Amino acid sequence: MTTISLGKNGPQVTALGIGTWSWGDKLFWNYGKDYGADEVKEAFRAAIEAGVTFFDTAEVYGLGKSESLLGKFIQQADFPVQIATKYGPFPWRFTARSVSKAITASLQRLQLQQITLYQVHWPFTFFMSQEILMNALADEVEKGRIQSIGVSNYSAEQMYQAHEILAKRGIPLAVNQVQYSLLSRKIESQGILDAARKLDITILAYSPLAQGLLTGKYTPEKAGSPNGARRLDPRFSSKGLRQIAPVLNLLYQLGEKYNKTPAQVALNWLMAQGKVIPIPGAKNAHQARQNAGALGWSLQEEEVKQLEQVSRPWL
Ligand SMILES: NC(=O)c1ccc[n+]([C@@H]2O[C@H](COP(=O)([O-])OP(=O)(O)OC[C@H]3O[C@@H](n4cnc5c(N)ncnc54)[C@H](OP(=O)(O)O)[C@@H]3O)[C@@H](O)[C@H]2O)c1
Repeated sequence: MTTISLGKNGPQVTALGIGTWSWGDKLFWNYGKDYGADEVKEAFRAAIEAGVTFFDTAEVYGLGKSESLLGKFIQQADFPVQIATKYGPFPWRFTARSVSKAITASLQRLQLQQITLYQVHWPFTFFMSQEILMNALADEVEKGRIQSIGVSNYSAEQMYQAHEILAKRGIPLAVNQVQYSLLSRKIESQGILDAARKLDITILAYSPLAQGLLTGKYTPEKAGSPNGARRLDPRFSSKGLRQIAPVLNLLYQLGEKYNKTPAQVALNWLMAQGKVIPIPGAKNAHQARQNAGALGWSLQEEEVKQLEQVSRPWL
């Protein structure tokens, strides 16, 4: 299985991860109604069987439930996995001690001694300066409770700043986790991808299937059919779905050539960008297995370019 390092000489993880926001989350994803603990446990197992062992979670997903479920599954799995989780820079957290307390709680829920990748969920520095935050994280790397440091939703400038603070401690900024898919390419036009390449920072691509749109299962005829908060998202309206038809048509066309689904082609395109690890969410074994099918083959250079061209409106 191909692995990628998180940042410069960081931990090695699989070239594709799996997102677990929907594991335990009722607010956005309707956990407990259409799917529940059994289905996500099967997703965990199916991912590992397919060779995907890198899981992304956050302390806020399901208010801790996603981490707790993962913790339970890891105990039962008896197979080494790598976990990325996230710290929420909330207003009531304004001292370095909050970082340490949050890590203790995540480690307990995950039933682990060490977290492979610990990320700052959003760039809110109003309550705690970047300087204090990054230094508190560097302390935790030195203590061995986290193996590497990442950020999420950071601009290019914020990445440079965090990178510089950590460099003084001799610790690399390993990751910036950002929204990136064929229908969300702002990280290219806003200089984030370029900055990541320059600084040797790995991009974790979140919502890589545009929350299901790139699977092709939502069509103008079935507009408004997704569950949960996506019902209100204009991208899932019939107008929104008509706009993405050219991208989906090309995904289907290329998929036919390789005997792959549109989702698998869309994920393969992201991996073709280099040092980009997509972390598609999966609610069940079928989705986890299918997404893992994005590994082990490659689109040709010309096909990568064709997808780039057809998705330019989303740059
Ligand atoms: N750092 C951040 O701020 C941030 C923000 C968002 C997400 N994330 C991370 O990124 C991960 C992925 O993002 P995401 O969940 O927003 O979007 P996504 O991965 O683009 O889409 C996930 C959804 O698409 C559908 N799906 C996935 N695979 C499928 C398949 N093979 N066939 C058919 N349908 C499939 C499922 O929903 P349905 O079956 O209901 O359609 C699934 O919940 C999250 O779990 C989380 O770890 C991070």
